Amino acid sequence: MTSVSRADDIDVRPITASEFPDWLRAVNTGFLRVPALTEEEIEGRRERFVEGRYLGAFDHGRCVATFRSFDQELTAVGGAGVPADAISGVTVTATHRRRGLLSRMMARDLAAARERGDVVATLIAAEYPIYGRYGFGPATWMAEWTIDVPRAGLDARWAGPADGGRIDLVEGEDVRKLGPDLHARLCRRQPGAIDRDELWWKWNTGAVRIDPSWKDPFYAVYRSASGEVEGMAAYDVDDNWGDAKQPLNTASVRWLLGVTPAAERALWEYLCSIDWVVKVKSGWRAPDDLLPHFLRDPRAAGITSQADWLWVRILDVVRALEARTYEGQGTLVLETAGVDGLTGGRYRLEASPEGASCTATTESAELELGLGELAALWLGDESAVRLAALGRVREERAGAARKADALLRTSRRPWCPDMF
Ligand SMILES: CC(C)(COP(=O)(O)OP(=O)(O)OC[C@H]1O[C@@H](n2cnc3c(N)ncnc32)[C@H](O)[C@@H]1OP(=O)(O)O)[C@@H](O)C(=O)NCCC(=O)NCCS
Repeated sequence: MTSVSRADDIDVRPITASEFPDWLRAVNTGFLRVPALTEEEIEGRRERFVEGRYLGAFDHGRCVATFRSFDQELTAVGGAGVPADAISGVTVTATHRRRGLLSRMMARDLAAARERGDVVATLIAAEYPIYGRYGFGPATWMAEWTIDVPRAGLDARWAGPADGGRIDLVEGEDVRKLGPDLHARLCRRQPGAIDRDELWWKWNTGAVRIDPSWKDPFYAVYRSASGEVEGMAAYDVDDNWGDAKQPLNTASVRWLLGVTPAAERALWEYLCSIDWVVKVKSGWRAPDDLLPHFLRDPRAAGITSQADWLWVRILDVVRALEARTYEGQGTLVLETAGVDGLTGGRYRLEASPEGASCTATTESAELELGLGELAALWLGDESAVRLAALGRVREERAGAARKADALLRTSRRPWCPDMF
């Protein structure tokens, strides 16, 4: 019998291509899913494999921890894309937990990301308490609604968008043709959005199968009166006839994108107009989504889930603050404590609606805050006044939190439509 390995005996390193199936088995084990994978899944997922970006921890040759990162573009406030190190597939097998394996993988990945010049790192946290210690902060939130369709009060004779636009059902291959351009347009106007590569469209339209339980959804496209594609949705409908032979179907939205409020309205009205459908589940939306207010009775949309969503770790404060635009004109000196001796410092921000300049400074700080708090403020969602009330940012000059809010906070909340 081999003795229990000490943390130092466990090798943390990038995996090789031939170790990929064992690495995937460890991911499934860590996420408490059936560990065995089909050849189709392995080969489908292998298309994403990038040497050097998939880390594993090995104990006596067996993979017991996993971590991967990939290049991503995150939309900052104002529409610029910033290079991000997106982290996913983080697991430590239950037999090897709390020996520092996650910390070792994270340190290695973030150091490489800084070296590459990524401005931020991003992830979606399985549990809230895991990532704050590494300098991440919750920068976008999500809400999910379930619409009670009969109560929503929409016109029972709805026969298409009232604005002269139209809705068509299309096939997966049409989505692969029309989707990328629509999504790129959405990214330019939606802080918090992340890019979708070609493989995303293949995986999410069934062209490449990575999930044996894949089922084709319905795809609806909205075109404006001028014929422009402005919205798209993928949704499933269950089969439910209740006990009294009554159609009681639920439509569940996988994703819905609209680049105009008219497109969003048309797609939600369409979903609520489908005969037999009595409930519509919205999928993950921004907490300030317009959806409830498209209904005659907004209370017909009940929030069924609400949580933090995209977590951001700022790797380069100067480039992050210079990448966005601001709600007003002004200066702010802020000091952020580093994590692991990295990233911290005191900075003078000169902000304006057109952009900003940010420089290291020796001036007295007006506001002191952690990196995670800075990330939450950076994407425009959080309020410095609120964080000051919680004791999580410190005003070194009276009124600095209010001033920070006037510059950094946005009138609409950021939203990341995707899971990764
Ligand atoms: C979350 C997970 C990856 C942590 O791995 P780990 O190797 O046990 O973490 P580490 O030993 O490096 O822990 C580092 C620190 O984080 C803390 N920590 C780790 N996971 C935590 C959790 N879920 N909740 C609270 N604290 C946690 C540890 O206690 C430790 O704190 P310390 O430095 O004060 O001692 C692992 O438990 C796991 O795989 N969980 C199930 C899958 C999952 O949730 N993955 C994350 C997907 S986003």
